[in-house]
Amino acid sequence: MGDQDLVAVLGRVPLFSALGEKERQRLARSFSERTFPPGHEIAVQGRDGVGFFVIDSGEASVTKDGEEIRKLGPGDYFGEMALIDQGPRSATVTAESELRCHGMTSWSFRPVVESHAEIAWPLLETVVARLREAEQRRPG
Ligand code: CMP
Repeated sequence: MGDQDLVAVLGRVPLFSALGEKERQRLARSFSERTFPPGHEIAVQGRDGVGFFVIDSGEASVTKDGEEIRKLGPGDYFGEMALIDQGPRSATVTAESELRCHGMTSWSFRPVVESHAEIAWPLLETVVARLREAEQRRPG
């Protein structure tokens, strides 16, 4: 995929849609393309992880304690939680089909978020939504 294609892909990801073209071009340089085969576990609940991923094509499932909680598709992202607090992965993310992603390391992710309030806010909204969902699932 050419750099310009990736810039266009990032423009369709709601998390990055508030960025200007120039910023998206700069952001594109922090990503590298990764394709995972069906069944591959990209993040494993309880383990460390250093990647943040945006899905370009394909489908992934999110499972927690063995229970599927969500499917993710093009434009969705995952892996932000462990990178924010450097804790273990909160869930397992498995490729359900061939999954083409753009991945960024934790050491790129932090400066990108720190320097862009337009990214930090929607990211906070997602983290809170995922937290609320997790709380609702707790019995009792
Ligand atoms: P992380 O904890 O780094 O690794 C597993 C990822 O699964 C997590 O980041 C989120 O990106 C994603 N995830 C966790 N909980 C949910 C949820 N309730 N809905 C959607 N995605 C989730």
